[in-house]
Amino acid sequence: MHGLKTDKLPQHLAIIMDGNGRWAQERMLKRIIGHQKGVETVRVIVEECSRLGIKYLTLFAFSAENWLRPKTEVKALMSLLKKYISFETTRMIADNIRFNVIGDRDELPPDVNAAVQQAIDRTAGNDGMVLTLALSYGSRQEIVRAAARLAGDIAAGTVAADRLDENLFSSYLFTGDMPDPDFLIRTSGEMRISNFLLWQLAYTELYFSDANWPEFTAAELHKALKVYQARERRFGRTSDQVNKRS
Ligand code: IPE
Ligand code: IPE
Ligand code: MG
Repeated sequence: MHGLKTDKLPQHLAIIMDGNGRWAQERMLKRIIGHQKGVETVRVIVEECSRLGIKYLTLFAFSAENWLRPKTEVKALMSLLKKYISFETTRMIADNIRFNVIGDRDELPPDVNAAVQQAIDRTAGNDGMVLTLALSYGSRQEIVRAAARLAGDIAAGTVAADRLDENLFSSYLFTGDMPDPDFLIRTSGEMRISNFLLWQLAYTELYFSDANWPEFTAAELHKALKVYQARERRFGRTSDQVNKRS
């Protein structure tokens, strides 16, 4: 129906959901209305990714830098997040989705954190898609935190410094138990990474959609995934090597 090859989907899809504010402002609406519409898109895209059989979906929902936004917007976003997480837990259970969060959870208001914990606990036994929300997430902060923890373990003698390699370092990141993203989508036409998964995106295929997040649809997702399926991932090798011609 959507013309996608089911055997060539990204195992891990990451999305920077951007453009909620502009979507609203273009319609003379308050920015928060854009965030509310954005939640509807989250529902549609989560359901579609799960249906397609994508194993990991990671959504950038609130960055460490987003705390700098006006207090009223931050408050409204936190309240929306809490509502979304509490309300969607039942659906996640029905769809066999395991909920996960990356980011500095200590910065979240206690009620949001409680909703996060409840969703994690209630979906812990699910073995379908892993839905990760990046909340109060910044990648540089994540890397520094990983380095500090690793240094602590080395100092305590639980890890030998000469054992340090890429895999060991990765295991200290919030994403330690996830494969790196195969595909990253950013909406709203912005072409930057904004401190998202800097280490993990080393060989990720990037895709930028002009649609603002509230108007990103399942059809737009299919269009993006078709582009992904037409890409050749070489990881430094030659095209011939990848295609086993030499
Ligand atoms: C993305 O939309 C959602 C968050 C960052 C929380 P924005 O709020 O960044 O929308 P624009 O970029 O201002 O249009
Ligand atoms: C990135 O969007 C963070 C999220 C989508 C949650 P921003 O809108 O905050 O990014 P910048 O500031 O425009 O780079
Ligand atoms: Mg933005």
